[in-house]
Amino acid sequence: MEVIIRPDANAAARLAARLIARAVEVKPELVLGLATGRTMERVYDELAALHERSRLDFSRCTTFNLDEYIGLPRTSPYSYHAYMQRHLFNRVNFSPARTHLPDGMAADLDAECRHYEQLIRDAGGIDLQLLGIGSDGHIGFNEPLSALRSRTRQKALTPSTLAANAPYCGGDVTQMPRRAITMGVGTILEARHCLMLVTGASKADILARAVEGPITAMVTATALQLHPHCQVIVDEEAAVSLQGKAYYRWIFENEPEWAPYRAAQA
Ligand code: F6R
Repeated sequence: MEVIIRPDANAAARLAARLIARAVEVKPELVLGLATGRTMERVYDELAALHERSRLDFSRCTTFNLDEYIGLPRTSPYSYHAYMQRHLFNRVNFSPARTHLPDGMAADLDAECRHYEQLIRDAGGIDLQLLGIGSDGHIGFNEPLSALRSRTRQKALTPSTLAANAPYCGGDVTQMPRRAITMGVGTILEARHCLMLVTGASKADILARAVEGPITAMVTATALQLHPHCQVIVDEEAAVSLQGKAYYRWIFENEPEWAPYRAAQA
């Protein structure tokens, strides 16, 4: 795992977007795992700008989102289908037939979860999985005590996740979907490259537990410590509780793999 600290949330999102753009340039048929949530909005703004300014071409990519609420039609403005249309798909040139999210309205939800896993396998697996982290340490909607080898399945959301997401679901926590379909931790760990973006002071403590704490199903993001190629991009506010900050800074300033990104970063 590598942790990279950038000065602020914009710079962190810009770096994440540039890593994604580079992956698309190297492999135009990239299979990209996507996330939703506030943290990702800046990344999608950056990708939309790169598409517009530099003709970044997504037309041959395939995407798989991490999760979707159960019981919300995709036309609901609060669905993750709608989020993705709004923040990314309507702004760049993915082929709609190659963008995938779980169907939270499926008649047979377990069959839908198995089908989603099959679609990922049929696409050849995920090349790059973008991730955020929940305040309870979840990746996707893998809430505390999710099995670290779990696959795509239904999951009940914790009260803290419901409270965190209520403002984006109409504001009334009692009206929110209480369950979701989510890729499992095991599914996420099979991605060839994981890229987690964490910004803001409210994520500082959970970030420190996720990257420097012991691996535990209580904080499913800790499973990323087992991943052979996981990069964690954070801003200064999120980094305040990290013990290894000096080392992480040295990596970004000195390791050759980061040279192309140093010059362009504010
Ligand atoms: C959403 C997802 C979640 C979010 C996490 C952080 O698809 O996978 O794990 O990444 O809840 O959300 P924000 O960025 O809103 O704090």
